[in-house]
Amino acid sequence: MPGNPHFDKAPPDKGASSFIYPPTAANLEFFAQVLRQGGLVAIPTETVYGLAALALDQAACRTIFQVKGRPLVDPLIIHLADASKVQAIAEVPDSLEKLAEAFWPGPLTLILNKKQIVPGLVTAGRPTVAVRVPSHPVTHALLQLLDQPLAAPSANPFGYISPTCAEHVAESFAGLVPYIIDGGPCEVGVESTILDLSGKEYPTILRPGAISADSIAHVLARQVHQKDSHLGKGEAATAPGTYIRHYSPQTRLCLFKEGQQPPQVQSDEAVILLTRTDSGSRKNIFWLTEDGSLNSAARTLYTLLRQVDKLGYRRIHCELPAPRPDGIAVALRDRLKRAAAK
Ligand code: TXA
Ligand code: MG
Repeated sequence: MPGNPHFDKAPPDKGASSFIYPPTAANLEFFAQVLRQGGLVAIPTETVYGLAALALDQAACRTIFQVKGRPLVDPLIIHLADASKVQAIAEVPDSLEKLAEAFWPGPLTLILNKKQIVPGLVTAGRPTVAVRVPSHPVTHALLQLLDQPLAAPSANPFGYISPTCAEHVAESFAGLVPYIIDGGPCEVGVESTILDLSGKEYPTILRPGAISADSIAHVLARQVHQKDSHLGKGEAATAPGTYIRHYSPQTRLCLFKEGQQPPQVQSDEAVILLTRTDSGSRKNIFWLTEDGSLNSAARTLYTLLRQVDKLGYRRIHCELPAPRPDGIAVALRDRLKRAAAK
């Protein structure tokens, strides 16, 4: 390995083996070298943290699946420095220019027909590949430095809650992921919108995110389909990444409708509300926001779920935002329903 990364805060306790590093220029050079040599590095993005390896290095990408405990049938997203890099790995559809102009860098992933250079492992044997240009300045700088694409799924054990800060990654992967770049808390807080452009039919949203179906339809001046988040059991296997149970705490999670009274809860059960209320003095009541803003709720959701999950409650009751057309509402409803699925 090339040299050592530079700490600018005290090294972690003896025995800890996942280190969080500040994104200094010297450290980014070091991490680029780790990646070039087939290593893994956890990276910040505006949505959630990712567990990155060189996308065209099949052996390195295999390690991602192993570390995450992710089934090989679930393909990875490839992260690029800018839209001009798409053509090296995928067929470029007519709509790319408009979408890239409107939404990149940002939380939109496109499913495109892949080129041969992309290892089959990364796409789980599919003829399509997922690509996005993240907006986080640290990862953007790393991608520019590398001048190579990075495959990165969310940096959480398969099925668990995604990480929205460097500490979440360290908690899950102590001993398995030695390098975590600290890019601060994620600005969006839920994973990117995934838009399938590979078919001849309408563009279809496979996973809702902050970028809404309406805003994409407006940019493309055509209809956009949205896959229903109410999946039947048999459907899970046919659509990668749309597992019914996902993003889940270990504690049993139940949902109640926005604005309704939370159920009568016992002292060994927790309640998560969308907005702070006066009942906040009870120690088992938590809230996602001070003001009910769904963008703030999305930023807080995974951190709060992780915190409450560790407190040993028998059950968590969480308020489910009412349906609204904006992307973040659809995304929050989708994640909460999956997190609560049995
Ligand atoms: O915001 C995000 O997208 C984050 C950050 C790190 O970029 N990444 C992320 O990756 O959420 P992951 O692996 O946790 O979720 C990616 C989803 C998976 O559900 C996968 O099945 C789906 O994208 N996917 C990847 N390639 C696909 C393909 N060719 N066709 C359909 N779905 C695909
Ligand atoms: Mg994930």
